[in-house]
Amino acid sequence: MTYYRSLLFAYCFLSSFISLVVLTHGAGSIVFDTYGRSLYGFDIFVTTIDPSSSSQAELQLTDGVSVNYNGYFPSSPSSLLSLLNYSCSSQANHIDALIYVTERRGYSTIYLDLFPSLSSPSNRRETLELPPRLHFPLLSLLDGRSSVSMKDRPSLSGDSLIFVSTHEPSPYPRQSWAAVYSTHLSTGATTRLTPNGIADFSPAVSPSGRWTAVASSGERGWSGEIKELNTDIYLFKTSDGSARTLVVEHGGWPCWADEFTLYFHRESSDQWWSVYKALIMIQGDAPVLISIDRITPPGFHAFTPAVSPAAPELIAVATRRASSQFRHIELIDLRDGRNAYVEVTRLTTPTAHHFNPFFSPEAGKIGYHRCRGSRNSGNPPLLLEHKKSIVPDKFSLLRINGAFPSFSPDGRKIAYVSLPGVYVVNADGSNPIEIYSGNAFGTAWDWKRNGVIYTSLGPQFAQESTEVDIISITLSEDDDKSEPPLIKKLTSGGKNNAFPSPSPDGNWVVFRSGRSGYKNLYIMDSIEGESEGIYRLTEGPWSDTMCNWSPNGDWIAFASDRDNPGSGSFSIYMIHPNGTGLRKVVQSGNGGRTNHPWFSPDSASLVFTSDYAGVSAEPISNPHHFQPYGEIFTVKIDGTEIRRLTHDSYEDGTPTWTSSFLKPSDVAESLQGVAFCRFDDCHWLSLQNQINDVLNGTIC
Ligand SMILES: *[C@@H]1O[C@H](CO)[C@@H](O)[C@H](O)[C@H]1NC(C)=O
Repeated sequence: MTYYRSLLFAYCFLSSFISLVVLTHGAGSIVFDTYGRSLYGFDIFVTTIDPSSSSQAELQLTDGVSVNYNGYFPSSPSSLLSLLNYSCSSQANHIDALIYVTERRGYSTIYLDLFPSLSSPSNRRETLELPPRLHFPLLSLLDGRSSVSMKDRPSLSGDSLIFVSTHEPSPYPRQSWAAVYSTHLSTGATTRLTPNGIADFSPAVSPSGRWTAVASSGERGWSGEIKELNTDIYLFKTSDGSARTLVVEHGGWPCWADEFTLYFHRESSDQWWSVYKALIMIQGDAPVLISIDRITPPGFHAFTPAVSPAAPELIAVATRRASSQFRHIELIDLRDGRNAYVEVTRLTTPTAHHFNPFFSPEAGKIGYHRCRGSRNSGNPPLLLEHKKSIVPDKFSLLRINGAFPSFSPDGRKIAYVSLPGVYVVNADGSNPIEIYSGNAFGTAWDWKRNGVIYTSLGPQFAQESTEVDIISITLSEDDDKSEPPLIKKLTSGGKNNAFPSPSPDGNWVVFRSGRSGYKNLYIMDSIEGESEGIYRLTEGPWSDTMCNWSPNGDWIAFASDRDNPGSGSFSIYMIHPNGTGLRKVVQSGNGGRTNHPWFSPDSASLVFTSDYAGVSAEPISNPHHFQPYGEIFTVKIDGTEIRRLTHDSYEDGTPTWTSSFLKPSDVAESLQGVAFCRFDDCHWLSLQNQINDVLNGTIC
């Protein structure tokens, strides 16, 4: 270990220095949930391509910290190092390099790792199980301006890093902020290659570097797609984004076999995701499409293709086949008219999902990412994961492994839901207790009575008539686990009574109920429940839900689809508890979803989740997210100053806001038996219908 490290230090002398981002402390914390995200950690692995050998061992390249994904092998690590102002001896030829996305510092950024050459004979894989490495944050080294953003799909073109970033807002609501940028590695100068107002995903630079292909929905924008984004493939000049031309209608995830051959994926009309090949020519300065051919047949899904110009007839793809419940990497060998499929990952790691393959420059190795599994020792799942805050002196931002978090009034405990059950844990992650062991959703603490938590029992996302009722749970004093919490039912009749939120004087609870046939808001006695008094706050043939009472008592914020009842589109409204003053605070955009409002401790702002910034990556390149557009925002209660707090392609939701400032650091999960690597592949990559069709002979 130390040997290789000193070897690397001997090769390369640091002649520029890395500035560290220092967080300053302030007051307040926002905590939110990301569906499933805390239960996996990705690393990048590599496998040698040897179709003749049956034993293909894989090597873990990244270091098992945070999530590491969407890798790229630069062809010349030594010239990369000199671009970064490192002077290297000639032995730098024995160094391999990997560029990838990582979230290790609480935000998404692009790293460069250097390690002893994988192909040098002395470095056999037994000795390289977790290679010693040097790593550098490529972008924050060069561009410290806006580090809270999502970065994705890095690659190199000459002296420049080409990548996706979300650091510039779209001028339009409900549009993705994802755009392609080019950063010159030695000067740090950054150019936006995507036109303003347009989102581009999945960039791929042509072998000569002249063209970049992207998946883009162009002027059309985003209209709520969460499976296929229905993108088209555009080409533009990598140097400056000019000569932007639509070449393939309906396609995503492009890659180049040579200057005139692109592979890409799309969901075919027979519903199988398939890989296609497009031939283009350049007329004058404009790319022109010549032909499109489908490469992978119906009967299995194939997507996220990769190809290397060094072996243009070997296509790496991810597949979902009926013979496995997992996403695997395969190689399609098209050489000499062959059409052979070579399994790459099923032989080595049959029970893991593998994502987004990429080739080494000489095409001798395939990289991909998967959950690191048992190698996660030392990096336990996180209860609270620190995320970099855009206003670090005002509040900290943390992801919790559980839905519907809420803080006790003193900020020392967090209640949350982890189905099936409601938990309370100290804000430092210690002493987790299950306080209710059934299906529940929504949590809120009484402001006056110590240790009283409100929640609703029953299924989420259910009809008005579904049996859901509100309870209060009174925790026993001094964390005595031997004494069970006292449970009291506050509503009866079960007409979807949910999302309780108490008034700051401790007398009332606002909640939504479907008792009239529509979900509207009601207020009831906080101790005895509806039997001691209830009045109706809102009324209409629509859904008012997810209510939150302001800490100063003046307002109740809620989500409502009253603009277009039943459409699935929600905006945030506020109303005084006496029924006056109704107004809309924020709407995501036409047909948009804005939900789960929660007041700031000073009652002057709201935090909420919304699709205001569209989707940030092709969903098929990720594990399953029900609502991959979910991002956390804040807004002033007068509707001004909308600020985006999270930047990712995950489902971020159910935020809460406490006045207590949680230290911006990670807190390990202390619940027993939390299974790591527990996540699903995209649910909509279903095989069942298609399998039935195949069995019935309607396909093939
Ligand atoms: C309703 O409540 C608001 C805020 O609590 C208050 O300013 C307003 O005067 C009240 N209106 C009536 C009619 O009571």
